[in-house]
Amino acid sequence: IPVQPFDLVLFGATGDLARRKILPSLFHRFQIGQFSDDTRIIGSSRADLDRPEFQELTAAAIREFGQPGETNEADIAAFIKLLDYVAVDARGDGGWADLGQHLRADVTRAFYLSVAPSLFTDIADRLSASGMVTAESRIVLEKPFGHDLASARELNQALRAHFQEDQIYRIDHYLGKETVQNLMALRFANSLFEPLWNSSHIDHVQITVAESIGVEGRGEYYDRSGAMRDMVQNHLMQLLCLTAMEPPARFTPNAVRDEKVKVIEALDPVAPDDIARGQYRGRNGDSYREHAGNPDSTTESFIAMKVQVANWRWAGTPFYLRTGKCLRERVSEIAVYFRDPPHNIFEGAAGVHGNVLVIRLQPDEGITLRTTIKDPGPGGMRLTGANLDMTFADSLPDAGRPQDAYERLIMDVIRGNQTLFMRGDEVEAAWAWADPIIASWADSETVPQRYDQGGSGPEDSLLLMHRDGRRWRSIG
Ligand code: BG6
Repeated sequence: IPVQPFDLVLFGATGDLARRKILPSLFHRFQIGQFSDDTRIIGSSRADLDRPEFQELTAAAIREFGQPGETNEADIAAFIKLLDYVAVDARGDGGWADLGQHLRADVTRAFYLSVAPSLFTDIADRLSASGMVTAESRIVLEKPFGHDLASARELNQALRAHFQEDQIYRIDHYLGKETVQNLMALRFANSLFEPLWNSSHIDHVQITVAESIGVEGRGEYYDRSGAMRDMVQNHLMQLLCLTAMEPPARFTPNAVRDEKVKVIEALDPVAPDDIARGQYRGRNGDSYREHAGNPDSTTESFIAMKVQVANWRWAGTPFYLRTGKCLRERVSEIAVYFRDPPHNIFEGAAGVHGNVLVIRLQPDEGITLRTTIKDPGPGGMRLTGANLDMTFADSLPDAGRPQDAYERLIMDVIRGNQTLFMRGDEVEAAWAWADPIIASWADSETVPQRYDQGGSGPEDSLLLMHRDGRRWRSIG
């Protein structure tokens, strides 16, 4: 369905994220007819470009990073006609009046800040001071949203000086992933799972976001963040919330986000023993410390932790979270381990285990239910495991490719739907939980355990599970 015409100002338009994700995503939504011809996309940054130069930069970005096999020169040429460019100085006066003149009075305005977080407040202030913030304006911000609770609060306050909360779109791109939204459909549009979705039936949950890449090229940012700030406080927290939350009464932005906040607020503090931190080693200049440019770094590139949602539904069912760089494969999944059947009627038959429901975010998005079946063939009643498998690509062959997270999220901004964006109090609650954990590492001067690249993380992570008589699912 086409959306109403809009003006989108993309700050940081020449940056990496804009070229890799935002501009190609806008292109693909245009390509399928979601934009009207009088939509305008105005690139902005410090760089002194003219309109044709920005159009050419965008065309090149689409050719390089657009969906393979789905870009063509005719569509690119049509798309770049929507583009304009205005150079602005985020910390000075240059360009703001000019930018204001490019905007129309009567259409939705989206100000997309794909810039360093240190510029968020400067840009919001200048947009407001130059009279560009109307009732129909929205501001979109990329993470990191603060570095701790104090800075997140400060940022929220600075934004709320110019924008209402329902005009602020804080992106967590994990919420735009198709399977993450599917988790909500699975839970709340089916009657099979929800009656079992509690500690009486679920033994534990494992949430894994494993990456095979390291921090090359982003070492400076990453070394100040580590896996806890870069991934757990936001992406893994969102996955945890959607898995653990109560059913909202309806699928509206505030009903969903109210339930997520309750999960975060129910989290117990995490004991140091329930955390394993790691840092990848390497040879020939490819260790974490070398990538980070910090020979003494104690920042973690891996973290595993046992988390307890202290409420009636989840008391006694731990959630194990794990994320890291330079692991064996890129795999993101949520695995829900059901309890073993209460009684085994198959005397002497080994292998009666609880079911495992795996919601796979990437790669090969899909849902798998591990079941126990009779081992086919002769030999009596022997049991074995088998998967009921739903890979979306196979089950829904006509559905086309899954939407990239950014495509979905950008369109939601234009439509004014905040369901898949983080609310200010949600971000603050997540920092309030994360801050003491991070502070405890500094206090105790603990250092992350080294791990080899291409494996499944440090030894301590395995021990965290073994101690509880459980095992991580293998990565890849
Ligand atoms: C980003 C993190 O938010 O998410 C990166 O800053 C990480 O460190 C990335 O690599 C992972 O996203 P995806 O979509 O590739 O799983």
